[in-house]
Amino acid sequence: MGKHMNTAVCMFPNEMQIHQQLAVLVVCCSLATGQISSRYIFIQEPMPWAKGREYCQSHFVDLAVLSTEKEYFALLSAIPMNNASFWLGLHKESSGWKWTNGEQLRLTHWYNYNHEGHCVSLEAMFEEDDKLLARSCNEQHSFVCQGPVSPQSVSVDFVNIDHMKLSWNISALMQTTSHYYNVTICGFICEMLSYPYNNSSSLMSISISNLSAATEYFIYVSAVVIHLDQETSRKWILQANPTMLKAKTVTSNKTHIIFFIVLDLFSLVLMVSSFWYIYQVVKKKSTERVGGRLSAGSAIVELIPHRIGLEKLENVIF
Ligand SMILES: *[C@@H]1O[C@H](CO)[C@@H](O)[C@H](O)[C@H]1NC(C)=O
Ligand SMILES: *[C@@H]1O[C@H](CO)[C@@H](O)[C@H](O)[C@H]1NC(C)=O
Ligand SMILES: *[C@@H]1O[C@H](CO)[C@@H](O)[C@H](O)[C@H]1NC(C)=O
Ligand SMILES: *[C@@H]1O[C@H](CO)[C@@H](O)[C@H](O)[C@H]1NC(C)=O
Ligand SMILES: *[C@@H]1O[C@H](CO)[C@@H](O)[C@H](O)[C@H]1NC(C)=O
Ligand SMILES: *[C@@H]1O[C@H](CO)[C@@H](O)[C@H](O)[C@H]1NC(C)=O
Ligand SMILES: *[C@@H]1O[C@H](CO)[C@@H](O)[C@H](O)[C@H]1NC(C)=O
Repeated sequence: MGKHMNTAVCMFPNEMQIHQQLAVLVVCCSLATGQISSRYIFIQEPMPWAKGREYCQSHFVDLAVLSTEKEYFALLSAIPMNNASFWLGLHKESSGWKWTNGEQLRLTHWYNYNHEGHCVSLEAMFEEDDKLLARSCNEQHSFVCQGPVSPQSVSVDFVNIDHMKLSWNISALMQTTSHYYNVTICGFICEMLSYPYNNSSSLMSISISNLSAATEYFIYVSAVVIHLDQETSRKWILQANPTMLKAKTVTSNKTHIIFFIVLDLFSLVLMVSSFWYIYQVVKKKSTERVGGRLSAGSAIVELIPHRIGLEKLENVIF
C-alpha cells in the first residue's frame, strides 16, 4: 500500500468533498452521503458479481469499465490494496467478452480465462500486464465501481455577440445513467448552469445566452450523478472532473451590418459615379443597420465600392 494510496474510509460527513484524482476506497458497509469526484471507487465488501453490479448501479454508475489501455493503467495505479481481487464490469456473453456498457473487450491483459468463468476480476497481486482473471460469477469478491465521466471533448457549434451553442458526444456508459451536466462559464464572473440529460440520445447540445461581447470565456463541463440514499434519504452527489474549453464571443455585429438603399432605376444611372462617396459616408457613421431611401424607388442595389452593377440586386453584407 502506501505510495498510491487514495483512500477515504467509510463515513463521509454530509458536506465533505473529496477531491482525489482517481479513486476512493469505500471500506465498509453503509455508504454515507457526500460529494466525490472520483472515476473509480473500490468497494471492499465481498459480493457475487451481479450483487456488486447492483450495488454500483444504485450508488454510482456501474461496475468499472476499462475501454482503453490508459484506463486500465490508471485503475492499476489507484489500487488501494495489493492483495485483493476486484470484480470489473466485464463478463462473457454469447458474443464474447463484453463490458457492461456493451463494448467489446479490447484489452489483452489476461492472466487466465477458463471456460467456466464468466465474470472477470482484476487481480491486484498479479503482474502489471496480466491482471484479468475469469472467475465463476458466484464467488464473492471486492469490486470497483465506475463514477460518472465528463465529455471527452466539447465542440463550439456557434458563437455570436452574446450567445453560444456547445455540443458533445455522450459515451455509451453515460447514456444508460440519468445525469446532468454542470456547466460553469467564467468571463468577468463565473456562472453555473445545469442541463439535465434524461433521454438516450448520443449527443447533447446546449445553448448559453446573455453573454458579453468580445469576451473570452473559460467553460467547464462536468457530468454529475445524484443518488438518493434510501435509508438516510440524503443525496449522494458524484461529479466527474470537468472538461475545459475556451471560447470567445464576437466583437460586435458590425461586420454583419446590412446596408440597403432603395432608389429607382433612373436615378441609379445618374448616381453611379457618386456611389463610392455614399458608401464612404454610410460606412463612416455606421454602427448600426443602415437604410436609406434616395427616392421613391424600386430596386435594392448591391453597394460595393469596387463593383457596382445593376445585374446583382440584393442586400449587401460588409
Ligand atoms: C490484505 O491485507 C490486509 C492487511 O494488509 C488484510 O487486512 C486483508 O485481510 C488482506 N486481504 C486479503 C484478501 O487477503
Ligand atoms: C461526436 O462523434 C462524432 C462521430 O463519432 C464525431 O464526428 C464528432 O466530432 C464528435 N463530436 C465531439 C464534440 O466530440
Ligand atoms: C458545479 O460545479 C461547481 C464547480 O465547478 C461546484 O462549485 C458546484 O457545487 C457544482 N454544482 C453541483 C450542483 O454539482
Ligand atoms: C428533461 O427533464 C427536464 C426536467 O426534469 C425537462 O425540463 C426537460 O425538458 C427534459 N428534457 C428532455 C429532452 O426530455
Ligand atoms: C434528447 O434530447 C436532445 C437534446 O436535449 C434532443 O436533441 C433529442 O431530440 C432528444 N431525443 C429524444 C428521443 O427525445
Ligand atoms: C437574459 O437576461 C434577461 C434580462 O437580464 C432575462 O430576462 C432573461 O431571462 C435572461 N435569459 C437567460 C436565458 O438567462
Ligand atoms: C447580433 O445579431 C444577432 C443575430 O445575428 C441578434 O440576435 C443579436 O440581437 C444582435 N445583437 C445586437 C447587440 O445587435
